[in-house]
Amino acid sequence: MRKIKTAVLISGSGSNFQAIAKAAKDNDYSYDVKLVISNKKGAYGLVRAANLGIKSEIVSHKDFSSREEFDSEIDKILEENDIELICLAGFMRLLTKEFAEKWQGRLINIHPSLLPDFKGANAIKDAYEAGAKKMGCTVHYVIHEVDSGEILGQEEFIVQENDDIESLTNKMHEKEHILYPKCVEKVAAKLL
Ligand code: GRF
Repeated sequence: MRKIKTAVLISGSGSNFQAIAKAAKDNDYSYDVKLVISNKKGAYGLVRAANLGIKSEIVSHKDFSSREEFDSEIDKILEENDIELICLAGFMRLLTKEFAEKWQGRLINIHPSLLPDFKGANAIKDAYEAGAKKMGCTVHYVIHEVDSGEILGQEEFIVQENDDIESLTNKMHEKEHILYPKCVEKVAAKLL
């Protein structure tokens, strides 16, 4: 069966990347993770990629003088690898309007809140400090506006009395690793 060639963009641990890649193999999903791109040299996700035998590239934003140049280098690598679908997974760079528009419908992201609540880089902390009773994660199509775009799926959990940022982060990851692969499959199946 033909598979949708998928790339995952990361900046750090890459646990979502790993979940996406493993689920594809275990469930014979419609996509294959062919490539990981990290903007950080020391990202642990690069070690995970090596362990899974998945090709990786480092594109440091520090080597480029503008967002446009950085994005166009990423775009070039994606094209060279015939990538059809891009998953952002803890990728901590804002993408240009041009990039988001070019890949619209083939570019998705995971965010650790029940969007539209708690957009931004500190979603778990923000929700905790706001006293949220329920938390969760969202997978959505990426449009130029940050943490917006059509929602593909959400997973939620109840915040317990004794939860703190660390326990909430762990619970969030558990939910993310279930949700993200399912949503990637949903998009990939449509693209096939
Ligand atoms: C996840 O919580 C994701 O929602 C957010 O960044 C984190 C990435 O974690 N965008 P990991 O690198 O996949 O472990």
